Amino acid sequence: MDAQIRIKELTEKLNYYNHQYYQNSVSEVDDFTFDKLLEELIQLETANPELKLPDSPSSRVGGTINKAFASVIHKYPMLSLGNTYSEQELIDFDERVQKGLLGKPYEYICELKFDGVALSMTYENGLLVSGVTRGDGTKGDNITDNVKTIRSLPIRIQAENIPTEFTIRGEGFMPISSFEKINKEKEELGEQLLANPRNAASGTFKQQDSSAVAERNLDCYLYSFLSDNEVFSTHEESLNALSKWGFNVSQTWKKCTTIQECFDFISFWETKRHELPLNTDGIVLKINSFDQQRELGFTAKSPRWAISFKYKAENKPTLLKGISYQVGRTGAITPVADLAPVQLAGTLVKRASLHNANEIERLDLHVGDYVCVEKGGEIIPKITSVDLSKRQPNSEPYQYITKCPECETDLVRKEGEANHYCPNEKGCPTQIKGKLEHFIHRKAMNIDSLGEGKIELLFDKNLVRNPADLYDLKYEDLFGLEKTIFDEETGKSKKIGFKEKTVENILKALENSKQIPFKSVLFAIGIRFVGATVAEKLANHFKTIDKLAEASIEDLLSVAEIGERIAQSVVDFFADPENVQIIERLKAAGLQLTAIEEDFVQESNLLEGKSFLYTGTFVNFGREELEAKIEANGGRFVSGVSSKLDYLIVGDKAGASKLDKAKKLGVKMISEDEFVSMLLE
Ligand code: IVH
Repeated sequence: MDAQIRIKELTEKLNYYNHQYYQNSVSEVDDFTFDKLLEELIQLETANPELKLPDSPSSRVGGTINKAFASVIHKYPMLSLGNTYSEQELIDFDERVQKGLLGKPYEYICELKFDGVALSMTYENGLLVSGVTRGDGTKGDNITDNVKTIRSLPIRIQAENIPTEFTIRGEGFMPISSFEKINKEKEELGEQLLANPRNAASGTFKQQDSSAVAERNLDCYLYSFLSDNEVFSTHEESLNALSKWGFNVSQTWKKCTTIQECFDFISFWETKRHELPLNTDGIVLKINSFDQQRELGFTAKSPRWAISFKYKAENKPTLLKGISYQVGRTGAITPVADLAPVQLAGTLVKRASLHNANEIERLDLHVGDYVCVEKGGEIIPKITSVDLSKRQPNSEPYQYITKCPECETDLVRKEGEANHYCPNEKGCPTQIKGKLEHFIHRKAMNIDSLGEGKIELLFDKNLVRNPADLYDLKYEDLFGLEKTIFDEETGKSKKIGFKEKTVENILKALENSKQIPFKSVLFAIGIRFVGATVAEKLANHFKTIDKLAEASIEDLLSVAEIGERIAQSVVDFFADPENVQIIERLKAAGLQLTAIEEDFVQESNLLEGKSFLYTGTFVNFGREELEAKIEANGGRFVSGVSSKLDYLIVGDKAGASKLDKAKKLGVKMISEDEFVSMLLE
């Protein structure tokens, strides 16, 4: 079939299914069929980019990279709301409204105040043309590609009689469930957790790679409509129309005719809001009639026709039963407060993070204290204060532990670091198991069949102590092993055993892991401070584990975004003969310890037959980018200055020795601009 016709057909079909699913809650096709059709569309669009339609559903999965977001001036400024925590101030606000409207009757629309990121979307002829952040209220960032990944937001409106051009505003957010899933994964990987869903959403919306945004499951509730013409006469009408046109309007709003009704709305949602899929931090009162909104007007910063009432972060007193200490895979110690359970913001809270010794000192926690626990925008509860009136007269302050709770080794605390560490990296069982769990993780070597307590069992049976041991495992080592483990989630014990099928699966998964690319292996090895992104950078730069192992601090620092802390950690890792031996064994087992060249795109043959070397740093390219650019245009990148070298590209802070040698040998030296102009001929 003609690609153009098929692209149109697929675009319409997928947009229709999406509309049915998100706007009408009807699932007309199963996920598999949907994904297959989408895949077909993406393939056709990749082969025929000029045929891609502006409302293509393929933008839902991202794929664009925005190096910098363009700044856009808001056609209608994005103001903020006056806010209050006090009921009296709400009554005062209502009185000002009454006066302002000269005693005429008025209505409020009460809405929840969603805790996310304000977004402004413009539609032209039914098509989403831009998505912009609030920025400073006058101008924001154009994040259209990222906004398009929100599946509940129509890219083309499928409705009759819509205005030619209009703007809608709403709150972009990360559902709590997505946030928790991401943090669970981060926790397993020993990565820094996201602080709260709002920060997570705002960070995600500003990511440069829209496919990474698409994976994060962002959503958006719309709460206002703006256009040059008077399309609606009340806010209520506009919300109903937005819902009808297929926009995601939270159906939590209510029309109220007295301030008392507004108070009832406030108290109703005070507890009920915790059942919603996102965080909310208050409610918003808006005058319903647009004429009356205009009559009341604005102050410099906010409308006189609206106000927000913020709920106080919920907090309760409870008994601090004790402090327990967790040991991470890198040996970092995290103290956790064990609390007498309290119901807080919709969940039963039993623990609170205390971060480090400084926090315990700051709060001056004593044994037997009653503490105040708070759960606000942060999902993890925190202790805010101690109830001194309940403190036992002779109670002692908590003493921070001095030995590792798992292996009794004396803890260390490096200067300038907040955390204590257990230095017994090679002998502390928790660290050894933590490192192995990290190694098999889905995002590392992806050896799923070793999950669920199996590492613990192999460790207990003395079968594994490091990743290389895994590749020595044989059928007979594993078959028949069993253990009873306690499942914290269900509170029940369960038996895990290695039957024939399990063992086969494990051995197969280990075999398959030998195809995992170098960057993931490097991440899996678990060098301190080398997370997934850093591992990818190092793998791309050094290409092989041997080159990385030989790298000096200076070599490492020359890689973009690698700082002192990481460089030192990499050097320390390879200075340890035991680590080198493990790497050698992994190499012998057949793991990928060399980077496979990325798909190569030939851009031109303008540099054919010419050799290049560079020195210094450049404005338009990182080092790797420059090398890739030379090769993509047919040139050859060489590693040293010789009389055969055609061009030395000289950047900022160029190396004196290369310059001297090039001068002596009469090598042509060119600037970055001259190099760029060679590509334009
Ligand atoms: S209306 C003129 N409605 O609160 C003000 N805002 O301080 C128009 N927000 O930046 C905003 N939920 O991000 C409005 N139901 C709601 C809201 C809401 C959350 C946020 C929004 C805005 C901030 C105002």
